Amino acid sequence: MKRLLMVMNGRTIGHLDQDDRGKTTLTAPPMEGVPRLSLAFEPSTRPIPPRLTRAYIEGLLPENSEVRSATARRTGANANNPFSLLEKIGMDCPGAVQFIPEDPAGRNEDDALVPIDEERIAARLRESVSSPASPWIAEGEHWSLGGQQSKFALRLENDRWFEARGSQATTHIFKPGIPGLNDHALLEHLTMRALLLAGRVLGPTMPFPLIAESAFKLFDNIPTIVVTRYDRYRDHAGTLYRLHQEDFCQSTSTLPDRKYEVTPTRIVSALRRTGTAEEQIDLFARGVLLNWIVAAPDGHAKNFSAILTDGSAVFAHMYDVATGLGQSIPYEKLAMGIGGKKAMSQVRRDHVLRFAEALDVDGDSLLDFVAACALVVPEAFAIAVEELSDTAPAESLSRIRDVEELLRSHCEGISRRLATTR
Ligand SMILES: Nc1ncnc2c1ncn2[C@@H]1O[C@H](COP(=O)(O)OP(=O)(O)OP(=O)(O)O)[C@@H](O)[C@H]1O
Ligand SMILES: [Mg+2]
Repeated sequence: MKRLLMVMNGRTIGHLDQDDRGKTTLTAPPMEGVPRLSLAFEPSTRPIPPRLTRAYIEGLLPENSEVRSATARRTGANANNPFSLLEKIGMDCPGAVQFIPEDPAGRNEDDALVPIDEERIAARLRESVSSPASPWIAEGEHWSLGGQQSKFALRLENDRWFEARGSQATTHIFKPGIPGLNDHALLEHLTMRALLLAGRVLGPTMPFPLIAESAFKLFDNIPTIVVTRYDRYRDHAGTLYRLHQEDFCQSTSTLPDRKYEVTPTRIVSALRRTGTAEEQIDLFARGVLLNWIVAAPDGHAKNFSAILTDGSAVFAHMYDVATGLGQSIPYEKLAMGIGGKKAMSQVRRDHVLRFAEALDVDGDSLLDFVAACALVVPEAFAIAVEELSDTAPAESLSRIRDVEELLRSHCEGISRRLATTR
């Protein structure tokens, strides 16, 4: 039998076992002052059944099968065995949990922060773009993130970038965007920035989800979005901690390849079953609606998360939200339907009300939210574009001006359809 210890901020909170026949179970007992590992199962001294264990741990790993194979080749892991992958890259995961081999001989003791300059960051990005099937981690790194797109994670310390070796925590995620899509990294940043700015305007007047902070940068001319991890925080002395989170595939015990099948209703029932406060459920409903407001087609269950604290779950910051406007392939379908409708241009007032009813949240306040967002978000997007007028490439900016117009008319359409029932 092999065992990985599960550790959160220095405390061992459970273990992941694999027996000689490959059966894998995790055990996470209730512990004072420790968040529950997942909403999908109760803290218990008994092992969690393999099916639930698998859904939880698969959620921590890259989804892209070529990247998994390349990572397995580089690290000596088995690409089809999530235990084996976590043994090699489970030392810094989404959320607070780390997987550390119980046997000290299997541990990587090289716990260093290694400075990385912009040239080397550009080289890593270039490799991500030219060989999207290459491993995301560099030699000596042991972090893991989910998702399909090329990415890597680094640590920011005193305004300098470092590779986080061994079990060191990463603080930022770098993504060069989806190849083949126009200005994808830039549009992801602009969308998130627009939502963040809109939240600043509307937040004091109505509930508004938190939005992860991002920046857009060119590294040797490679357009890149750099996202600040909200699951890392510092105390007043500057010590870095991990905050626990899981995505809504994990909360509903869904394997990542079924992320488009998880409905808002299922997510909400997982949240309610575990005693999540009603205002957090209402925030999640608003998060789903925000994908419609910005015409983002990819709001599937792995692109929403909950932060799990001691005893409660809160709706996490929104991340990985990019408008599909301005692409040559039209993105007209939402990943999560609103009142049964996925076609963005067909969602009307009564669908929002039906959506609210299905989730048992207040429909009128959601209508007010949509109406306010439809007015504010296009303005906020224009401000976000303006902020980058000296940074973004000129030819991108001219395409982005078109997206600005498309977003404006998309939101005008939403306002019109809110006023009518058919
Ligand atoms: N700002 C953030 N803070 C903390 N965790 C994050 C943040 N952004 C992303 N993550 C985590 O990293 C994972 C991968 O990030 P992201 O969703 O941006 O990647 P992706 O490859 O673009 O995803 P997809 O496959 O949905 O296109 C997320 O599922 C989430 O668990
Ligand atoms: Mg994602």
